[in-house]
Amino acid sequence: MSVTDLDSYLESFDGEPGYLDWAAFGPLSPAVRAEAQADTELLGSGRRTSIELVAEHSREARELLAVLLGTDASHVVLQPSTTYGLMHAIYGLAGGLMLGRGEFPSLTVAATRAADALGSIEPQWLEPVDGMITPDVVRAALTDDTRALAVSLVDFRTGYRADLTALRDVIGDRLLIVDAIQGFGTVDADYAAADVVCGNGYKWLRAGRGTGFAFFGDRALEQIAPVLSGFAGVDGGLPLDAVPAPASSAQAFAVSGIDSLAAARLATSLREIVDVGIAAIETELAARTGDVMYFADRYEVPVVTPREPERRAGIVTLAPEPQDAAPLAASLANHGLTVTVRSGLVRVAPHVGTGANTLRLFGDALAAFSSARVW
Ligand SMILES: Cc1ncc(COP(=O)(O)O)c(C=O)c1O
Repeated sequence: MSVTDLDSYLESFDGEPGYLDWAAFGPLSPAVRAEAQADTELLGSGRRTSIELVAEHSREARELLAVLLGTDASHVVLQPSTTYGLMHAIYGLAGGLMLGRGEFPSLTVAATRAADALGSIEPQWLEPVDGMITPDVVRAALTDDTRALAVSLVDFRTGYRADLTALRDVIGDRLLIVDAIQGFGTVDADYAAADVVCGNGYKWLRAGRGTGFAFFGDRALEQIAPVLSGFAGVDGGLPLDAVPAPASSAQAFAVSGIDSLAAARLATSLREIVDVGIAAIETELAARTGDVMYFADRYEVPVVTPREPERRAGIVTLAPEPQDAAPLAASLANHGLTVTVRSGLVRVAPHVGTGANTLRLFGDALAAFSSARVW
């Protein structure tokens, strides 16, 4: 198997020009598509060896995740999605759970439902005006009852990248639960500062849906009860006629068998990322988001995403004046650009392979919007 270098990784972004919506969905990479087709054929063969060959990708995916997370595979468990992993963590908590009101609903809904159903956690809502969960915001709100902080690595709305190291310093030995889907595989985060990290591969990893995963560190394994643990959450195969205790590893946070085709897609995408290296990917991505900010500044469209490269990842969010939002969205659509427009904000999300042609289209769209703007 050839080792992917940065150039061939960049060239593997072979989609149509105009796609700036990687924070919503990542078009599948050529390697992922090829692997999925080959494994689909293997699963159609009716040979046990072929079925086992595809199933092997689950172990491979966990090992590659462990490399990127700086841990070992026993602390990693595959999941159907980010939300499933977060629910395992949140339903098993006790005490005060601090989290932002504006977080993606994976966190807010799970916290509310778990509190209502079990009464074991008490949500402690953070509501900073700009939506950014900074160390200062957390410090000011901490109470003696706070047992855990749940936060997005990269905020899906503003693109703000949390400072995990600083958050750990602020919360001490409380649990840090991270929804990493908008940053995993594109930026170098301090996962060692986190107790739980959940993500999915269908955005930035280009691996398609069903490629979720969760890391549970030692403190999380000690303190979080595997409330939703199913028959796959035990050591040593199918538990029949007696019900053993949940596994002592992250595998405790599994329900039933994992989709091996999804694991194959995930492993394929992760192998490329491990080969290229997160540092190189992060540098490239900062250049692409810098390009988006350059055009926004040039045409005087306000940007809410932080300017410092270490406080952003792949999302640049534009906040046009209310009367400008619809014309801006229309101009982007007319120029063949795909972005997410929500609540008056325009979320622009390039990836490392976003080409000069797409960025030129983006500049043209902003120029056209700007020349028609009524000041
Ligand atoms: C921050 C964040 N968390 C979670 C999700 C949902 O993840 P999943 O579909 O893997 O459960 C999204 C999807 O956009 C997201 O942006």
